[in-house]
Amino acid sequence: MTTPTVRQRRVLLVVGGGIAAYKTLEVVRRLRERDIAVRAILTRGGREFVTPLSLASLAGDKVYDELFSLTDEAEMGHIRLSREADLVVVAPATADLMAKMAHGHADDLATTALLATDKPVLIAPAMNPVMWEHAATRRNVAQLRADGIAVVGPEGGDMACGEVGTGRMAEPAAILAAVLARLDGGVGRLAGRRAVVTSGPTHEPLDPVRFLANRSSGRQGHAIAEALACAGAEVTLVTGPVALAPPAGVATVEVESAREMADAVDAALPADIAVCAAAVADWRPAEVRDAKLKKSDDGSALTVALTANPDILKTLAQAGPRRPRLVVGFAAETEDVERHARAKLAKKGCDWLLANDVSPATGTFGGARNRVVLFERDGGAERWPELAKTELAERLVARIADALEADTTAAVGAG
Ligand SMILES: Cc1cc2nc3c(=O)[nH]c(=O)nc-3n(C[C@H](O)[C@H](O)[C@H](O)COP(=O)(O)O)c2cc1C
Repeated sequence: MTTPTVRQRRVLLVVGGGIAAYKTLEVVRRLRERDIAVRAILTRGGREFVTPLSLASLAGDKVYDELFSLTDEAEMGHIRLSREADLVVVAPATADLMAKMAHGHADDLATTALLATDKPVLIAPAMNPVMWEHAATRRNVAQLRADGIAVVGPEGGDMACGEVGTGRMAEPAAILAAVLARLDGGVGRLAGRRAVVTSGPTHEPLDPVRFLANRSSGRQGHAIAEALACAGAEVTLVTGPVALAPPAGVATVEVESAREMADAVDAALPADIAVCAAAVADWRPAEVRDAKLKKSDDGSALTVALTANPDILKTLAQAGPRRPRLVVGFAAETEDVERHARAKLAKKGCDWLLANDVSPATGTFGGARNRVVLFERDGGAERWPELAKTELAERLVARIADALEADTTAAVGAG
């Protein structure tokens, strides 16, 4: 067994003086959740909207705000600060910050670091719609784009100032997607690939008010769909009933039963990648009553006959010419996880199987973290450490991109 190591990615984040700075805190949280290191610079204006303490607590690192600080300069000079990141992100990018960047000002730590950096820069503008439409701002944005700076947002809608128009900072999910795509080298590694992902439980009706279900929350499947989209793939997420928002940038199809899920997956083909993370019910009530089943007066037991549901993973893995190039399944087990996972891998014919222990003590169903072993068809196995489900999703997506890029049928299955 091998446990792969991944180099930690680093972001230098500049937080400017706009109301949207509170949303940047969520971006920091989501970057850290993916084990991306965040070093933050708070401008003088930014400090009026979020505190250095909030930012430092979420980033897990001190916050830098003074250009002429002897301590900071000795510890981490402004040049090192600007170079020791893979990407520089400005969020919110205020009209003032953009004007300074466009004209090469360097009169505080943020603008000096931005001028001194040799790394790609991504900005998330946020301001009042009239400020955004102003000729000066338009000129500055055009100049920044011409200088190679990437821009995410702003979006239209209601503004904190009570006005309506374009100027809202992009949502944290969109900023995150833009950051992840750039950390992966400008374009996503899965650009041009199609993926179908299943997620959540299925509900199998018994009568108009009752159904059989399981405890799957959909968090792992949704995280995988989002991570695939962040890597540039065109993703269809087929999800059973969950209490989660559809991930950004993903075509989401909501279904209830296993049969509906099977039909929706079939409709999403052809695809290069299939990841079956849904906890599909193996059986459904053989008969669905038209009217609510009544309790009998004598309290006698009810026997419900069950019939097998379609096997979505097996159908995909054995779909002949329509088979996705890489078919990945999940095995949710409560005992003897590895033996059952190996047996499932052989029986279904998929390429990889991620086995996780979902016994109640692990908290995997519904929880934020997961621990899996990745079994490969050729006999290989990787034991991954316990990870946040979002981080696990990213690691899986990086592994998928590696396999597709390697372009060897041995690595990705018979196809
Ligand atoms: C309540 C309030 C909200 C503000 N919101 C924004 C904003 O969303 N976008 C913007 O460009 N400027 C905004 N400003 C103006 C900036 O804070 C001001 O231009 C400041 O100098 C920018 O600082 P910075 O360059 O450190 O970002 C706001 C000012 C106030 C008082």
